[in-house]
Amino acid sequence: MTRNLYLFCSAAEPVFDVAHVIEDAQSRGWDVCLGLTPTAARWVAGSLDGLAALTGRPVRWQYKLPGEADVWPDADALLFAPVTFNSVNSWALGLSGRFTAGVAAEALGRGTPVVAMPCVNAALAAHPQFEQSLSVLRGAGVDVLWGEGGFVPGEVGADTRARFPWQAALDAVDRRGAARP
Ligand SMILES: Cc1cc2nc3c(=O)[nH]c(=O)nc-3n(C[C@H](O)[C@H](O)[C@H](O)COP(=O)(O)O)c2cc1C
Repeated sequence: MTRNLYLFCSAAEPVFDVAHVIEDAQSRGWDVCLGLTPTAARWVAGSLDGLAALTGRPVRWQYKLPGEADVWPDADALLFAPVTFNSVNSWALGLSGRFTAGVAAEALGRGTPVVAMPCVNAALAAHPQFEQSLSVLRGAGVDVLWGEGGFVPGEVGADTRARFPWQAALDAVDRRGAARP
C-alpha cells in the first residue's frame, strides 16, 4: 500500500539535494508531495518542473485559493527538513502565514506523524527562542532530530549540505510512519 509523505523544505542548502531524497523516499515506498517555503522555491526555481514530474504531484509553496480543489492526498507522515531557524520558530509559534508552517502546524492537531530536522548554525541555535521552539514541537509529538542522531550544528558559514544526515531523517519517517495505526 502506498503511503503519502509530505516533504517540506525551507531555505537552507540541503534543499539542493531534494531530488535524490525524493527518489530515496520513493524507493522506501513513499508517495512524495513536495512543499517549499517561498524562499526555498526561489532557490530551486529552475528545478520546479522536474521536481513536479519526479513526484507526479504539483510542488506547492503557497496556499490554494478559496474554491480551488486540494491537489494532494492526505498525509500519512510529514518530514520538515531542512527546517531553518525562521521556519522552526514560525511553526512552533503557530505563525501560519506560510503554506509550509500552516500545514505543518495543522499536522500536529491531526495526529499526523511528524519528523523535523533543523538546519541551524550554532550561533542562531544559541538564541533563546530556538530551544523553546524545539521544546514546543517535541511536546506536540514531533520527532526533532537535532544534535546526536540528527543535524549537529556547526559554526557560521560551515558547510551544511555535506553534513546533513538525510538518511537519518528518512529512517525516522519510516519508523514513525510504520508506527501509525
Ligand atoms: C546561502 C544561504 C544559506 C543559508 N543557510 C541557512 C541555514 O542553514 N539555516 C537557516 O536557518 N537559515 C539559513 N539561511 C537563511 C534563510 O534562507 C533565511 O532566514 C530565510 O528567510 C528562511 O526562510 P524560510 O524559513 O521561509 O525558508 C541561509 C541563507 C543563505 C543565503
